[in-house]
Amino acid sequence: MGNYTITVLPGDGIGPEVTDQAINVLNAVAGRFGHTFTYHKRLVGVAAIEAEGDAISDESLEVCLHSDAILFGAVGGLPNYDGRYKVKPEQALFKLRKGLQFFANLRPVKPLNSLLSASPIKPEVLRGTDLLVVRELTGGLYYGHLEPPVPGKPSEIRKTGHGTEAIDTLLYTEAEIERILRVAFEAARDRKKKVTSVDKANVLSSSVLWRQVADRVAADYPDITFEHLLVDACAMHLIRKPSSFDVIVTENLFGDILTDEASMLAGSMGMLPSASLGTRKTANGRLGLYEPIHGSAPDIAGQGKANPIAAILSAAMLLQYSLGLKDEAAAIETAVEQVIQAGYRTEDLREAETKIINTQEMGQKIASALAQ
Ligand code: NAD
Ligand code: IPM
Ligand code: MN
Repeated sequence: MGNYTITVLPGDGIGPEVTDQAINVLNAVAGRFGHTFTYHKRLVGVAAIEAEGDAISDESLEVCLHSDAILFGAVGGLPNYDGRYKVKPEQALFKLRKGLQFFANLRPVKPLNSLLSASPIKPEVLRGTDLLVVRELTGGLYYGHLEPPVPGKPSEIRKTGHGTEAIDTLLYTEAEIERILRVAFEAARDRKKKVTSVDKANVLSSSVLWRQVADRVAADYPDITFEHLLVDACAMHLIRKPSSFDVIVTENLFGDILTDEASMLAGSMGMLPSASLGTRKTANGRLGLYEPIHGSAPDIAGQGKANPIAAILSAAMLLQYSLGLKDEAAAIETAVEQVIQAGYRTEDLREAETKIINTQEMGQKIASALAQ
């Protein structure tokens, strides 16, 4: 029985809707296992820009630093928003990820048996799929480097004598590649003992270096089966034979794109959780930021249609990685399975003979299943 503080950053669009349900479920965990969770809610995204002048304030970052874990909803993209402010709401993510050095983003993809028919991919192709994408999160194109460096402008659109041009740069250091590869190999040791390193080494210099470093790191893990795969082929194999993967490790942008694709193996964007981790320790584990992989979904915001399961499973990852509460995390996963098995679905997973419920009802059902 422990006391833990969790910083909650609900954000924009469906962010607050799904985060509320993750908190309901965490409260059910607290009740069943006798823990106390204290939540510190802070502004992030559009609300933070309006009230505090930045997508996330330095004070909020401090609050994050002094908590046991961070639960994040989603930011960005509300209708009529773009261009109104100088700061983009998405900057909050970069400030959090880079500022707190969360370089490893873990995105597990494990379709539930009772949801196989909800995916556009055939059930016989999906069966047995249980993979983990380890996405590098603090390097690559998201954080370009101009030469000579232009402070605060790692990438830009600029006017030249020949017209307007835009530049983004893709830089990885050996050390950055090595540390993310090690995260992947360590994760594979507790799983099916296979690592697939995904790059574009037939084109990109950063990928050529990535391959060299990956081969060197792989030599330290003779117990793990290791392979390289080009990213375009990986996108295809993910759909052709997803069950052939165990751990996929890749750079920032490739990991972003491949996981949106992989979410459909699980039936919906609303099903995939994530954990962003670095080296900062807490009393019971590592400081981490936990968020669904989806965004603020302005097309369904405010309608009760958002699937809160990605946020709820993110809360389970929070319990496991930052609070060291494995049984509690497993209890959430079981509760989610029970509710889906019983035929309850949000709109995104609609199928014949299912019972469609809203965001809040889904959270309540999962919380009640936990309480039993
Ligand atoms: P999105 O992930 O918000 O939505 C993509 C599609 O998936 C939409 O049709 C949406 O309705 C659906 N969807 C997403 N989450 C769902 C859920 N929980 N339940 C049911 N359906 C769901 O991506 P987008 O529309 O390309 O981006 C919208 C905004 O979100 C953009 O501003 C983008 O920058 C931002 N974004 C933020 C994050 C984040 O905060 N981590 C992640 C991705 C996108
Ligand atoms: C994600 C999102 C973000 C990313 C955007 C909103 C900056 O798509 O978390 O997957 O690309 O990292
Ligand atoms: Mn994304």
